[in-house]
Amino acid sequence: MANKADLIVGVQWGDEGKGKIVDLLAQEYDYVARYQGGHNAGHTIVIDGKKYVLHLIPSGVLNPKAVNIIGNGVVICPDEFIKEAAQFGDLRGRLYISKNAHLILDYHIALDQAAEAGLGDKKIGTTGRGIGPAYADKIARVGARLGDLYDQARLVDTILERYDRLGLNAPPKAEVASSVARWADRLLVFAADTTQMLWQALDDGKRTLLEGAQGTLLDIDHGAYPFVTSSNTIAGGACTGAGLAPKEIGKVIGIVKAYCTRVGNGPFATEQTNAIGDRLREKGEEFGASTGRARRCGWFDAPLAKFACRINGADELALMKLDVLDGFEEIKVCVDYDDGKPIYKSFKGWERVSKARSFDDLPKAAQSYAAAIEELTGVKITLISTGADRNDAIYR
Ligand code: IMP
Repeated sequence: MANKADLIVGVQWGDEGKGKIVDLLAQEYDYVARYQGGHNAGHTIVIDGKKYVLHLIPSGVLNPKAVNIIGNGVVICPDEFIKEAAQFGDLRGRLYISKNAHLILDYHIALDQAAEAGLGDKKIGTTGRGIGPAYADKIARVGARLGDLYDQARLVDTILERYDRLGLNAPPKAEVASSVARWADRLLVFAADTTQMLWQALDDGKRTLLEGAQGTLLDIDHGAYPFVTSSNTIAGGACTGAGLAPKEIGKVIGIVKAYCTRVGNGPFATEQTNAIGDRLREKGEEFGASTGRARRCGWFDAPLAKFACRINGADELALMKLDVLDGFEEIKVCVDYDDGKPIYKSFKGWERVSKARSFDDLPKAAQSYAAAIEELTGVKITLISTGADRNDAIYR
């Protein structure tokens, strides 16, 4: 059978704990590739008590043996990339960036922030990182790509022209030229035809993992528009964002948090703007890894999770942050809606899951909760995370 790439994707609004899973799985994969989004993502990984926050670089970077790929569907802010890469020493030979990936330029960030400010209380609550405007330029065919750094003089002119067209005050030409020179110097060493690389990897039988960023419910087409991000976050996004055919995607692992969180505005039916929400936020440390914003918190929404499992073709689920529900007397799950209002089913709480090392070790009530999620989504849970550390994980 032909070798296929596996894929992980968040089934809620992002922040499900994908970073930890990719880090765990990256130990087994030869290639780890990002296919969409940019540094709006924030993956936190804790190894032996040390915390790493990754925004753009695939989480496989913490496995010295994995090759990391930033695919054509990703948008790259050059200076943020340079900063992030500096944490890891020399990445040459371990990281490749698609020449076709678009760059996030300063005016994208300015436009993002200005658009949000202009929307007042209707704002989306973006990360302010220029993601939407960079993708808008890509679609409008006026964007700049990593490969454009090979002709610095031309890129400088293109950038200045864009400022002009947009009616924005451009920085002095020398400043733009110096930025472009720095980016060319620091980024082109990673430039590659990453689609060909991934094909070769698959042909050579290499184990390849596609790492989705954000979450299904933030998908530009399938989320609650306009309260979405500007890329296709679903599994299908990997085909366009990495250059793989649909049939080259093998196992799809959905990452699901034991409750729900959302950063930014938009519908969130099971949100708890009360002591329950506060408790989830405190215990779950639900503050954005990218922006530090407090996340909105609420109960697990099964119909949405089921939708996400279907649209991604999830073969299995990883249930994250089950320990955050420790100590709740009652845990609720939205099982359906009545006129847009959630219908909840109540579950008995448990004292503590953090010490469990096998599914049978888990308190009975926690086992029932996990079983209910499986039943409601129709997808088997194969991994349960019971703490932030790499080792706090139960496999089934
Ligand atoms: P943007 O991606 O910065 O344009 O933001 C659009 C929406 O997606 C906002 O609600 C953000 O809070 C949300 N968002 C973007 N990236 C992430 C992420 O990595 N995790 C969770 N939410 C995100």
